[in-house]
Amino acid sequence: MQRTIDWVDDQIHLIDQTRLPDELVILRVAALDPLIDAIARLAVRGAPALGVAGGLGVALLARLHPGDEAAVRDGAARLRAARPTAVNLAWGVDRALARLSDGPDAVLAEALAIRDEDIAACAAMATRGADLVEGLVARRPIRVMTICNTGALAAVERGTALGVVGELFARGILEEALPLETRPLLQGSRLTAWELTQMGAPFRLLVDGAAASVLARGLADVVLIGADRVTANGDTANKVGSFALALAARHAGVPFLVVAPESSVDLATPDGAAIHIEERGSDEVLAFRGIRSAPEGTRTLNPAFDVTPASLITAIVTDHRVVRTDRGETPG
Ligand code: MRU
Repeated sequence: MQRTIDWVDDQIHLIDQTRLPDELVILRVAALDPLIDAIARLAVRGAPALGVAGGLGVALLARLHPGDEAAVRDGAARLRAARPTAVNLAWGVDRALARLSDGPDAVLAEALAIRDEDIAACAAMATRGADLVEGLVARRPIRVMTICNTGALAAVERGTALGVVGELFARGILEEALPLETRPLLQGSRLTAWELTQMGAPFRLLVDGAAASVLARGLADVVLIGADRVTANGDTANKVGSFALALAARHAGVPFLVVAPESSVDLATPDGAAIHIEERGSDEVLAFRGIRSAPEGTRTLNPAFDVTPASLITAIVTDHRVVRTDRGETPG
């Protein structure tokens, strides 16, 4: 199986997600600047994959600058800042950097441990998440709405929320997935629809604006999302549109579940108000793949993420636990 991100022949190998669904291209990264560029333009993306990229990036730096701790720390600081919202990137960088005094091999071992733990975490979340969905939803088979891409492409293998969808499919109880296309960069249509097609799972793709009415019509039984950062009180940053989806799910009386590894849980941040939400460039809103879709000179507002308050979340499923936010539980 082609992993989304891996360490091969002293390089970082990444699936270039900007090229999907048209072609499966592997980027071979052997220096810091191309890695930062790949993160910034979302060639590699999704919180768990960013955590692995952070760890492997520091491993790469430690090999490129043996004995030059200052150069490694300087590069690591730039890598850590490549995207601000997903806590996993900083977490992966810091974890690998903590081994720097033990030498480049120790740093690489730590980065590979982050990779391996992510694979195990996704397997655990798939089982725990599917068990919870089975308990919360009476209808069979089950219809699942989701946003962005939270599948194997967002991690190393399998993914988080989409991993649960895959598990429900494997258990023979998935009627269909309902992925939202996810404006502006279409992670839902380019990536999630591609992954569901690879799985052979039934799905219908929705435009983002259809979500509320589709939920209100009773066409989905549960909403599953991933997370870029879960704060101590359970507020959750995820792809922009998640908050609106949670409001619509509450209106429709549909359970709204966050599926994320413990590495996305940031207990140092008390609540969602303290999360730095990444603002991205106008080009993403004004054009798609180079074709302009708004008048010249149009100004934009392009937050890449939003924060869903814990009060709208039914439960948060991690690789270690289920936090029943609907019963007043918090991660911290
Ligand atoms: O801008 P992206 O594509 O990196 O945003 C990704 C998301 O919002 C995902 O839902 C989140 O990182 C969780 S991935 C398992």
